[in-house]
Amino acid sequence: MSAIVTSGLSKTYKSLGKAPVHSLRDLDLTVDENEVFGFLGRNGAGKTTTIKLLTGLIHPTAGRAQLFGVDTLLPDARRMVGYMPEQPYFYEYLTPKETIEFYGRLRGLTVAERQQAWEQISELLDLRDIADRRIRGFSKGMRQRVGFAVALVGDPPLLILDEPMSGLDPLGRRMIRELILKMRDRGKTIFFSSHVLSDVEEICARVGILVSGKLAACDRITALVGDVPKSVEVCATGLTAEFVAGLGDYVLAREERKEGGHRLVVENTEAANQLATEISRAGGMLLSLHPVQESLEDFFTRIQEGTQISLPEEAQPAALAAAEE
Ligand SMILES: Nc1ncnc2c1ncn2[C@@H]1O[C@H](COP(=O)(O)OP(=O)(O)O)[C@@H](O)[C@H]1O
Ligand SMILES: [Mg+2]
Repeated sequence: MSAIVTSGLSKTYKSLGKAPVHSLRDLDLTVDENEVFGFLGRNGAGKTTTIKLLTGLIHPTAGRAQLFGVDTLLPDARRMVGYMPEQPYFYEYLTPKETIEFYGRLRGLTVAERQQAWEQISELLDLRDIADRRIRGFSKGMRQRVGFAVALVGDPPLLILDEPMSGLDPLGRRMIRELILKMRDRGKTIFFSSHVLSDVEEICARVGILVSGKLAACDRITALVGDVPKSVEVCATGLTAEFVAGLGDYVLAREERKEGGHRLVVENTEAANQLATEISRAGGMLLSLHPVQESLEDFFTRIQEGTQISLPEEAQPAALAAAEE
């Protein structure tokens, strides 16, 4: 069974005297059980809106979503989800242990279950040392860890995390990445949003890219970036400056390397072969020929530029204003 299925899921915000904002439009998405799915998009793309729809915090204007076959409009769907909001809010005077206890009660866990939840979660997230300190004095990284811990209360099969790495230093980001993988290894499904590509690239098999409320791409990362190199880098020695300067326009970039010789960039492997022939004719020596793959970041940039924002006329001013906020 799929962990998440949405069909035609849409959300339009309407407020009096303002043009409607189409925050999410016709989202069709399936996330398999035990998958780590990265939901990418710039600020204002509609990531949080989608997550709020999935967690039942808001209701769709059109379309529907199901978690493990249960419609998100039903309270039962909530039982499947551990949710970490974009800005987790805590009772500042509680300790992590009390916070977990509090959420355990909300989840309806028994005393024994709450005790067990704390044992497991504090072990997993390394919370023992800070168990009895008030959250008030916590750093962003520690707060994020507590936020993650809250999502694990009740051992839900699906974790939905809204920008879990945002605002963290590299160590904090790594901690969250490792936690996500750890949870995957325990059989959980993880759906998380991010605008930082490297976080997603490392741990997700599949990603969806949201542009202005529309799913612009959704696939395995390897499929999105493709096997075709975006350029080929050729390094060679024994070439004169005149020869390098005289090479045709098919050489896109040329530079002298600090360690000696030249680095030349061409568009594809055919061009690289042509260049190799010219180099050998000129008496030079080929050092390396290296295809450069498109990164997810290149793809992300390309798709942002290529997707036209086609909002209905009347919706544009509000959407633009919102995007500028
Ligand atoms: N409650 C709301 N009322 C009106 N517009 C909203 C509301 N919440 C979000 N939006 C708008 O919906 C769009 C998507 O927002 P959001 O889902 O928060 O994007 P993201 O999480 O990708 O940054 C933005 O243009 C935002 O201003
Ligand atoms: Mg958001």
